[in-house]
Amino acid sequence: MRHNKTSGAPITGPQRRVRVWDLPTRLFHWLLVLLASIGVASAYLAPEWWMDLHIGAGYGVVLLIVFRLVWGIYGSEYSRIGNFSYSPAETFRHLHGLAMLRPAHYLGHNPTGALMVFALFLVLVGITLSGLLALGGEENQGPLAGITSFQIGDVAKDIHAYLVLGLGVMVFAHLLGVIAESVLHRENLPRSMISGFKSLPEGLAHPPAREAQLGAVALSIAVFGLSAAGILGLLGRMPPTGLQALPANENFQTECADCHQIFHPSLLPAPSWQGLMANLEDHFGEDASLDEETSKDIASYLRSYASEGWDTEAANRLRQVSANAPWQITASPYWVRKHDDILPGLFAREDIGSKSNCAACHADANSGHFDDQMINTMEKQK
Ligand code: HEC
Ligand code: HEC
Repeated sequence: MRHNKTSGAPITGPQRRVRVWDLPTRLFHWLLVLLASIGVASAYLAPEWWMDLHIGAGYGVVLLIVFRLVWGIYGSEYSRIGNFSYSPAETFRHLHGLAMLRPAHYLGHNPTGALMVFALFLVLVGITLSGLLALGGEENQGPLAGITSFQIGDVAKDIHAYLVLGLGVMVFAHLLGVIAESVLHRENLPRSMISGFKSLPEGLAHPPAREAQLGAVALSIAVFGLSAAGILGLLGRMPPTGLQALPANENFQTECADCHQIFHPSLLPAPSWQGLMANLEDHFGEDASLDEETSKDIASYLRSYASEGWDTEAANRLRQVSANAPWQITASPYWVRKHDDILPGLFAREDIGSKSNCAACHADANSGHFDDQMINTMEKQK
């Protein structure tokens, strides 16, 4: 480890400016700020069909993490992980100095800052990983869709949200640290993360600084990129878990399409389909009764492909039906919750007609997927 410690005192008197943060490190820092902000804003402020922006920001963070790891090995002096790997004793000394308001001055990351860097790094890895699991499990999208169940995705989504809260707390602590260090050493740290320069008291030797090894950086990134592309390519070929091929059923497609579009069988559990099919003569105020053979055929088809056999978000959520109207998809608690901020007038609009006309707003309704990104642009106004 090379020391980048300079002195314990605020920097006063003559000093010179030395280059500490190279351009890639500064770009990494500010791009991370930008992408994390986009990630948070798109999750909490943007509508669901902007999901791709959120996913894009997440992939961007993954690329940044990979780059920073490589740059932490082969980058220039102060960006190297080895430059800011301190012993517990030195970290303790720095914390102690901080408590006495006389922390030692370091050119690169100080020991407390280094702790924060490592913690931030772990949390970011956790956030991107849990995000990918949530995407694969809940939405059946992304490279992990073929190996992640809905249940795992659901848990991952909670972890994802908690880690983001943790990240918020850490960013706050980081800002406090930057302010404290800037005040105690009379040095504007945010500016140094823009210009790259920090001050070194005149007369103090500038410790030997290693240059970036660009060849090694390029090679590592190429090797990593190729292996990642290979693994993702293999994973991407696996079909998403919990989807099955749905054969056509002629009776269902003709008899049940008379009055409304047909519903994907995964949108109700088997007992609901059974109840609905046993009571066709009083079907939401209509007589939809069929001859026994046709009715039996449709009933058995719907039971076979009911929500229990699917692991999509819609099937999992809609499995919990309304106690009062167990055969009505649009009465289930999840459906009501998801659509409660849509103006009632929109459902009545001529080209939509009713709540039950799923395909009017969900371009992928017939597949049973109900992806966030497939909510029809026309119907997005609420
Ligand atoms: C005679 C007309 C008619 C036929 C035929 C018909 N339905 Fe319906 N169905 C309705 C009406 C009316 C509603 C209530 C729709 C609404 O509230 O917008 C409804 C609602 C439903 C719902 C609940 C949708 C929701 O809003 O949650 C399901 C499920 C359903 N039908 C399934 C079927 C199946 C399966 C068949 C074929 C066996 C069928 N329907 C045949 C008229 C019909
Ligand atoms: C008038 C348009 C409209 C109709 C009709 C409609 N939806 Fe939706 N649906 C939406 C909108 C908009 C959202 C996103 C709500 C939000 O922002 O949380 C949504 C969300 C959903 C979701 C959650 C998607 C996700 O990944 O978060 C499901 C599942 C869903 N709808 C199922 C249905 C089903 C099943 C029907 C038919 C019975 C239906 N919808 C009818 C507009 C509609």
